[in-house]
Amino acid sequence: MCGIVGYIGFEDVKEIILGGLEKLEYRGYDSAGIAIANNNNVYVCKEKGRIKDLRGCLDVNVTGTLGIGHTRWATHGVPNKINSHPHQSCTKRFTLVHNGIIENENELREKFLKDIEFTSDTDTEVIVQLIEKFVSEGEEVELAIRHTMSELEGSYALAILDKEDMNTLYAAKNKTPLLAGKGEGFNMIGSDAMAMINYTNNFYEIEDKEFLKITKEKIEIFTIYGNKVTRDTYTADIDASDTEKGTYPHYMMKEIEEQPFVIRKIISEYSDENGDLFVEPEIVENVKACDKLYIIACGTSYHAGLIGKQFFEKIAGKPTEVVIASEFIYNMPLLTEKPLFLFISQSGETADCRAVLVKVKQMGFKTLTLTNVKGSTLSRESDNTLLLYAGPEIAVASTKAYTAQIAVLSILAAKVNNKINIDIFKELGKIAYTMETLCDDKDNYKELAEKFLVKSRNCFYIGRSMDYFVCLEASLKLKEISYIQTEGFAAGELKHGTIALIEHDTPVIAVITQESINLNTRSNIKEVKARGAATMVISLKKLSNETDDIVIDDVNELLSPLAAIIPAQYLAYYAALLKGCDIDKPRNLAKSVTVE
Ligand code: F6R
Repeated sequence: MCGIVGYIGFEDVKEIILGGLEKLEYRGYDSAGIAIANNNNVYVCKEKGRIKDLRGCLDVNVTGTLGIGHTRWATHGVPNKINSHPHQSCTKRFTLVHNGIIENENELREKFLKDIEFTSDTDTEVIVQLIEKFVSEGEEVELAIRHTMSELEGSYALAILDKEDMNTLYAAKNKTPLLAGKGEGFNMIGSDAMAMINYTNNFYEIEDKEFLKITKEKIEIFTIYGNKVTRDTYTADIDASDTEKGTYPHYMMKEIEEQPFVIRKIISEYSDENGDLFVEPEIVENVKACDKLYIIACGTSYHAGLIGKQFFEKIAGKPTEVVIASEFIYNMPLLTEKPLFLFISQSGETADCRAVLVKVKQMGFKTLTLTNVKGSTLSRESDNTLLLYAGPEIAVASTKAYTAQIAVLSILAAKVNNKINIDIFKELGKIAYTMETLCDDKDNYKELAEKFLVKSRNCFYIGRSMDYFVCLEASLKLKEISYIQTEGFAAGELKHGTIALIEHDTPVIAVITQESINLNTRSNIKEVKARGAATMVISLKKLSNETDDIVIDDVNELLSPLAAIIPAQYLAYYAALLKGCDIDKPRNLAKSVTVE
């Protein structure tokens, strides 16, 4: 969702801010803007559309060494130039960008800002007008910002310029990610490390309700009450090249093809010096000690959780329930006495998961987060963290994070291991190799996408047991980037209603990787074929028929989702490519979903 970059230092900020915003494009946005402190004035430029549109309207002659930038994903007010950030106070003294949602904006307008004529439909404008109001009533700027923070209900990451002090960049945070980057003769802020990684790899985490005063020499962090906070910096586990596409046409293609490497990296990160399986003992103990594991996640991460449940129940013998985060709060399952909550979140910032985390912590339960982003909100706020080691995932559609989640879940289950012994590293090693072979067959997937999918309005993925969970993820991939309406369906359930939707040439893709269900799913394929469907089969070699379209080398059946998803990711990629869709940035979507 929205992204923020800010810089104060010695170089011209334009490219630093625009480049940083481009690094945040993956989060999803519909407009962008920049403010540059220039000769005791603040130059503001904003535009609906992409960063390239913003570049197009920017006055190249404006220079400055202090600036802030923003990508907006509309929540309050349509995506247009006026609603884009930055926003300015009525006298234009203060200029501000904001990520998050202010829940009490109406009350604040009513209580403090009745006389102000607002120019936009955003909740953000309330913040900048409040700061100006408190300053006009005699408060010092720092106090006015902290006072404003204390009035706000909701989430915010803020970057603020004061026209009367061109040597300071102010920032604040609550429930929305924000990092400060420390440099030599300059300092930065950003929604994530990637926005700053070309300039620094030295970051301060910022806690909720903290306020920052930043000059080119120093970063000072304060509580909302004005007490100074001391904190060490940390380095992020990424380098600048991780965030580049290299020779790949799209990040999604790069990330699909990184999967074998990621699986091997996970094996090495979860090994001890003897090459044996290592997971932090406290985590293993917590899983062993709980009477039920509750997996909380959204979207693709939820799909990984469904497969994780199979590992925990079949390998570790641990009862497990998987709940969609946004449902949990309103429809909480009857909890056991000693539950452990496992949050799965690539970004570690998903607001729906965080809402559950806050709730279950209040209830006194233990929590564990599985995430790709060290230092992310969910990671910081959980008792323990397991990292994915997948490297930055930039394409909005998750690929390598999904398989990394499944791989780490299998490792944790194998470590707990109460039921069956599995040489998990050997099996995952086979998976990495099989993924490579599958990646080599991409011309085949392109042809299949062209033949079966491109001209279709809708499509079905069908499977049973573990294959059904793969189908859920495969269908999400296809629909989110190609906009073909796709359903992942339990193959045996079709005949109970949904088979009515099968028409001449409706694509039905069957996934068959489990011996126990092979014949049943094949019967379901016959049923839809008899009603005119155009069928495609993805199967494991030992279960395959001559006519199957994609055959996967034999791997451990429990881990087969890790292999079976690869062709499905490519099918989605090629369907979107052939339809001319924006593969890495599908419409309406955001990578990091920081609103509930
Ligand atoms: C789909 C996708 C989303 C995310 C979901 C949760 O490709 O990426 O469905 O999985 O928004 O995000 P995280 O894992 O960051 O919590």
